[in-house]
Amino acid sequence: MIYTPRPLIIAIDGHSSTGKSSFARAIAGELGYIYIDSGAMYRAITLFAIRNKIIIDEYVDEEELKQQLDSIEIMFTKNARTGRNDMFLNNENVEEEIRGIQVSEKVSFISKIAFVRKKMVAFQRKMGEKKGVVMDGRDIGTVVFPDADIKIFMTADPLIRAERRFRELIENGVSTSLQEVEHNILERDFIDQNRSESPLRKADDAVTLDNSYMSQEEQMEWFKNLLQQKFKPAHS
Ligand code: DC
Repeated sequence: MIYTPRPLIIAIDGHSSTGKSSFARAIAGELGYIYIDSGAMYRAITLFAIRNKIIIDEYVDEEELKQQLDSIEIMFTKNARTGRNDMFLNNENVEEEIRGIQVSEKVSFISKIAFVRKKMVAFQRKMGEKKGVVMDGRDIGTVVFPDADIKIFMTADPLIRAERRFRELIENGVSTSLQEVEHNILERDFIDQNRSESPLRKADDAVTLDNSYMSQEEQMEWFKNLLQQKFKPAHS
């Protein structure tokens, strides 16, 4: 375990399917921090909207969603088997369902809505208030924690991202094509970057990590160097 001089907030943003969650989880493990997946929150709200026919195709009934939003309960609960935090929606474990293509296809239409973001950001800030957290998403370094101690912006070649995601989905028994996955990734990037509410952008003080040709071990080495740089005594 690596010790930090004080509990930090580490913000990891970036493009879809760049391995933010795996990287953030690995960092949290190394530091003994809590990992918070902010995308899971938007995914859970999206699942609720799909199930309740609040979103049909690309159309969201915002009035209806606004009315129901406060009664939607989302929370993370540790899964004793996997050791990971699973997402619960109104007391139901929806961890698996929110990762499916059905939710992935719709989540950008829900996550661009201002009142949804406002509620999610408040929840995320509350979860990070004790620090010692690694949070990943799209606006963590720019909006949720603009004063985060370390900000990382992750990116990778879109085709490499699609291939990784495609492999992952196939391994999980999801039937899809590489073209469909690539289309979904590019569409999500476009919507995330061009929405008016908290668009995805690199914070001025974030460090870019392009992991197109990096293994997970290499990424962890890169992070350890970054941490060392940050806490290097001023005279060395
Ligand atoms: O990280 P992810 O792919 O699970 O995120 C799902 C979607 O939620 C993604 O398309 C963008 C959105 N999102 C967001 O707008 N802001 C965040 N902080 C996290 C995710």
